[in-house]
Amino acid sequence: MDIIRDLFGQREKAAALTREAFQRLPRHVGIIMDGNGRWAKKQGLGVALGHRRGVETLREIIRHTDDLGIGALSIYAFSTENWNRSAEEVGALMQLILDFFASEIDELHEKNVRILILGEKDVFPPRQRETLVRAEERTASNTGLTLNICLNYGGRAELARAARQIARDVLEGRLDVDEVDEKAVSDRLYTAGQPDVDLMIRTSGEMRLSNFLLWQCAYAEFLFPTVLWPEFTVAHYDEALLAYGGRDRRFGGRKP
Ligand code: FPP
Repeated sequence: MDIIRDLFGQREKAAALTREAFQRLPRHVGIIMDGNGRWAKKQGLGVALGHRRGVETLREIIRHTDDLGIGALSIYAFSTENWNRSAEEVGALMQLILDFFASEIDELHEKNVRILILGEKDVFPPRQRETLVRAEERTASNTGLTLNICLNYGGRAELARAARQIARDVLEGRLDVDEVDEKAVSDRLYTAGQPDVDLMIRTSGEMRLSNFLLWQCAYAEFLFPTVLWPEFTVAHYDEALLAYGGRDRRFGGRKP
């Protein structure tokens, strides 16, 4: 019973740091929210409840990212490979998409958060697709945190899409072949205009990128906390942000 109560919103609240506590904060954080299935199994629950509890974590992490004034947060909510999971699990995730936007969109919009969906939306069932399009349209002119929600997303598919756009632009005379440089590619990614990922966090101890933001992570700092996503708190997040602040970033150069 405690678990069920806890699942629906009464997670223990961990103390959160404020912006002043950090020497340096990332401009763009990426998160692979891994471990929902293992957490559910550990509790003797079905995987759908693991994902549901994962959404509770997500709410707190979005709020804290916004409170800290970080410019962009990218979350891996559903990969192009996740369609291969059981119909029951895919169905639960589809329902969570609807529930997440129904409960969060007003607050996110009020907080000036701009929502972008990274990934092809056309393959989603009509209700999900409409929900995603509406969320993007409603928040399109917001100027606060950019929340990139990766759904039906794959980094290679994103790069192939950019290559198609470049080919089309060259063919139709909008771009010269000699102008195809790194910026030309970046400008055609879903994240066009955003800074690269500075900090990538993957929970649950797995140390893989799993086709997430391949281009944008070229110089990202990586952290792999062992805690499962449903148990990840703002205190763990602050710890990761503090660790990021202590990293020596050289971008291939040398310190003077
Ligand atoms: C990985 O855990 C997590 C996912 C595949 C989905 C993550 C999705 C959410 C937290 C909710 C969806 C978010 C929105 C915005 C609708 P896993 O199930 O692979 O964990 P495991 O490796 O322990 O099995």
